[in-house]
Amino acid sequence: MYDKILVIDDSKLNGNLIKKYLAYRNLETVHAVNGQIALDILEKDWEQFGCITLDRQMPVMDGLEFASKIKHQELFKDIPIIIVSSMSEKTEILEGLEVGVYDYIIKPVDGDFLYLKVRNAIEFYNQKIQMKKLNIQIVEENEHLEEIVEERTKRLQDVTNAILNVLEKATSISDEVTGNHIQRVSAYSELLAKEALLPHEIISEIKAYSPLHDIGKIGISESILKKPGPLTTEEFEKMKEHVNIGSELLREAKLPEIAVNIIKYHHEKWNGKGYCEGLSKNDIPIEARIVSIADVFDALTTERPYKKAFSIEEAIRIMKEEMYDSFDPELLELFLCDIEKIQKIKEKLED
Ligand SMILES: [Fe+2]
Repeated sequence: MYDKILVIDDSKLNGNLIKKYLAYRNLETVHAVNGQIALDILEKDWEQFGCITLDRQMPVMDGLEFASKIKHQELFKDIPIIIVSSMSEKTEILEGLEVGVYDYIIKPVDGDFLYLKVRNAIEFYNQKIQMKKLNIQIVEENEHLEEIVEERTKRLQDVTNAILNVLEKATSISDEVTGNHIQRVSAYSELLAKEALLPHEIISEIKAYSPLHDIGKIGISESILKKPGPLTTEEFEKMKEHVNIGSELLREAKLPEIAVNIIKYHHEKWNGKGYCEGLSKNDIPIEARIVSIADVFDALTTERPYKKAFSIEEAIRIMKEEMYDSFDPELLELFLCDIEKIQKIKEKLED
């Protein structure tokens, strides 16, 4: 509690009178005979004071000069000042209030009147201090909460990344396609998502989840996955199931919708003749249309057990022929405009 009163008055008589009035009502006072002494007291011990009564006409430093100085002291600028003065002209009172004092009492002083003014000032000041402390506490608690949220988000991201790594490994172990296929599909997909000017977050998600597009192949038998020749109709039907197996796996793992869509719809075709839902055109989620282009491009330009690797030019020709059947034509155009960047990715991630 800030409850002492600093009484500043060069007249011992007046100072003692104020002290006596306040002491009579159990308020403790400290007397300073001029503004400089009062400043020295405050600098050492400002925390005990809840109010200042201030005479105006004093040697060394007059009342208004003292009040102005106080207003520039960060630590105690808010301690309420009550001017107690015989200067009673309206302009004189206004001068005092202009400096920012809490109140103005004209001498001769009435004890009850002074006491109530001082008591109210002390209460006002203590409430203000309480509010300040509360505000600081709230700001600190908010900062602490933000730190906790940040830390938990990071931990969650680490766990997600670890899961993605494991799933990527599982994909490359089970798939007939080894090497850097999934990294290349991820890099091509990221490139195309950027060219399509998708929002930054979506680009990151496409980059992160596209390596999982064939994760469902862990549920397909090896005899089908690693069969050197073409699949029978029955085998192909089983193979198609990888999109359902994979998307269910990711849905259960509570991965985002973008991840599920990539896995489920990356074999859909622009003309609606793909699988598993037979979606067409813009009904196919854009993330799946992007990964589909990246996946086919990489399949064409790399060697597989059943085919040789086509050159980039051949792959472009083949994909352009399929433009309106298999792929989103606008996305394919965007992708094929970036041959230099595609070439760089291919060279960097060569098997
Ligand atoms: Fe696939």
